[in-house]
Amino acid sequence: MIEFEHVSKYYGSTVALNDVSFTVPDGTVSVLIGPSGCGKSTSLKLVNRLLEPNDGYVRVDGTPVREFAPQMLRRGIGYVIQSVGLLPHMTVEENIGIVPKLLGHSKRERTHRASELLELIGLSPDEYRHKYPIQLSGGEAQRVGVARALAADPPILLMDEPFGAVDPLNRETLQQEFISIQRQLRKTVIFVTHDLDEAVRVADRIVLMRDGNVVQTGAPEEILGGPANDFVRDFVGDDRALKRLARFSVGDYMIDAPSVDRESRVDWSSFRDFEVVYVTDGRQHLLGAARRNGDAAGATAGEIMDDALVGSVSHSSTLRDALAEILNTELAETPVVDGHGHLVGRITMKEIYAATPRRIV
Ligand SMILES: Nc1ncnc2c1ncn2[C@@H]1O[C@H](COP(=O)(O)OP(=O)(O)OP(=O)(O)O)[C@@H](O)[C@H]1O
Ligand SMILES: [Mg+2]
Repeated sequence: MIEFEHVSKYYGSTVALNDVSFTVPDGTVSVLIGPSGCGKSTSLKLVNRLLEPNDGYVRVDGTPVREFAPQMLRRGIGYVIQSVGLLPHMTVEENIGIVPKLLGHSKRERTHRASELLELIGLSPDEYRHKYPIQLSGGEAQRVGVARALAADPPILLMDEPFGAVDPLNRETLQQEFISIQRQLRKTVIFVTHDLDEAVRVADRIVLMRDGNVVQTGAPEEILGGPANDFVRDFVGDDRALKRLARFSVGDYMIDAPSVDRESRVDWSSFRDFEVVYVTDGRQHLLGAARRNGDAAGATAGEIMDDALVGSVSHSSTLRDALAEILNTELAETPVVDGHGHLVGRITMKEIYAATPRRIV
C-alpha cells in the first residue's frame, strides 16, 4: 500500500503539491491525472525519494519512505518514465538486466529473466535481446522500459506517462497489454497520464489533480458519473456518459439471445417479443439473423437469414463497444459471442441505458 498523508512540496516559491492525501491499495492501479504542472511527476518522485516532501508523509506499507535507504527502497519500486531512458550503449537484454545485476544475479539468471519478460511484453526474445535502443520503434522501446521496470519483480511500479510518446493505435495495444500483465502480476501501481481515455481503461482509481491539489478521487465510473465540481465536469467532458460505458463489460450485462438452428423453421409464435432471432449452426456458431417479415412458408432459418444484419461483440468487450456496434447495424441490438464465435447472448439499448445513471450530472 502507498499512502500520501498531507504531503506538500515546494520548489522555492512554487507550490508543486499542497496538502495532498490519497491511498493506493495493494495490487491496484491508481492513475494521477490533471493539467500540465499540477504535480503528477513530483508525486511519483516523492515515492522513490528522488525528491523529499516539505511536509507530510509518504508511506509504503505503513513505513515512511524516508526511513528506507534510497537504494533499498528503489529495488522494490520499478520506475518507467516517458522518455523511456534506455541506455543507448547497452542491448535490450543488458538494459533489462541493470537492476538484477545490481542485486548480484548471475549472467545466466539475467538472460533467463530477460527472455521471460520479453515474452511477457510481446517481443520475441531471440529477435530483440541483442538489439540496441536505437534499433527499436517508439512502442518497442516503451515495452522494453516496462520490462526493465519489472526485472527485479518489484511490488510497486511508478509509471510516468509510460505510453506518452506512442501513436494512438499502438498506445491502445500497449494499454491492453499492460492491463493483462497487471491482471497476472497484481503490482501496486501509480500511473501518470494526460489522457482521460487511458485513465478510464487502466485505472482502478483515479486521483484527479489541479495546481498541486487533489480535486476528486474515485473509481473512473464514479468520477465520470458524478463530477464533484465544474472543473471536473469540464475535465471529463460532455461525453462522460459515453466514456463511462467503457467501464462495463458486455458479459456482465448481456441477456439471453433467441436462437434457431439453420436447418430448422422459425416458430415465430414462440419468439413473439423479438425483432429478430439469431441463426446458428449445429455447434452454436453465430451465422446471422432472421427477421420476422422475411419469413417464407416452409423455409428454414438458414434460408431466410440475412447475414448482413449482424455484426457482433465479444463478451469481454465493453458496453461502449456494444453501443458502437449497435449504431453500425440496422437493429437496436447486437449479438454477443465468446472467443470461439459461439452465440452467448445479446445486448440491447435497454441494457446500455440500465448501466447509465438516470441523470449524469
Ligand atoms: N525542478 C523544479 N524546479 C522548480 N519547479 C519545478 C521543478 N519541477 C517541477 N516544478 C514545478 O512544479 C509544478 C509541478 O510539476 P510536475 O512536474 O510535478 O507537474 P506534472 O503534473 O508532472 O506536469 P506535466 O503533465 O507537464 O508532466 C510545476 O509548476 C512545475 O513548473
Ligand atoms: Mg510530469
